[in-house]
Amino acid sequence: MNLAVLASGYGSNLQAIIDAVDKGEIEGHIKVVISDVKDAYALQRARRHGIEAVFIDIKDYSGREAYNEAIAAVLEKRKVELIVLAGYMRLVSPLIINKFRGRIMNIHPSLLPSFPGLEGIKQALDYGVKVSGCTVHLVDEGLDTGPIILQESVPVYDDDTVESLQNRIHKVEHRLYPRAIQLFIQGKLSIEGRKCFRNEG
Ligand code: GAR
Repeated sequence: MNLAVLASGYGSNLQAIIDAVDKGEIEGHIKVVISDVKDAYALQRARRHGIEAVFIDIKDYSGREAYNEAIAAVLEKRKVELIVLAGYMRLVSPLIINKFRGRIMNIHPSLLPSFPGLEGIKQALDYGVKVSGCTVHLVDEGLDTGPIILQESVPVYDDDTVESLQNRIHKVEHRLYPRAIQLFIQGKLSIEGRKCFRNEG
């Protein structure tokens, strides 16, 4: 299966996905990594692994739709079958969601539906929760609202900072995201309404 990864930043989740592909734990090919940030480290990681890395500058387009059309064109040209958002800090537009419905995944650093949107880790810390975690879900038109594929919790300690909690969550993300992608590739996920079921039988 042909995958595309969209990332805006450091790309540690991208790295986990690349490593899982290399180990055969994900039976897919990363055809392209796309970023909205020119010097995103994620792009360097892709190039280092011989994966096409594309920077698409929103400033080159008249608006959000035109920018998303440009992304869709890159995805369609590479015959991408699953879009993986890995720290991509923009909303994917309805144009892309309609073209790739049920074929876009996101990872979010909280136990959704708590703390969606930006700064999920800071939101959880500020709220004072004792447990947080991460969520892999399918993308729909809402903000982090699509059917949940996998979720795992981590404890929150009194002396946690955004950085320490982020490190704990990242460790889980790097395990969970490749697993969710492989379940999708193997056709082991089914969607009923807003529920996602795993058929591992
Ligand atoms: C990850 O923790 C991911 O859950 C989060 O960004 C981080 C990217 O890290 N995504 C969001 O907050 C989406 N709203 P990475 O660049 O090292 O993979």
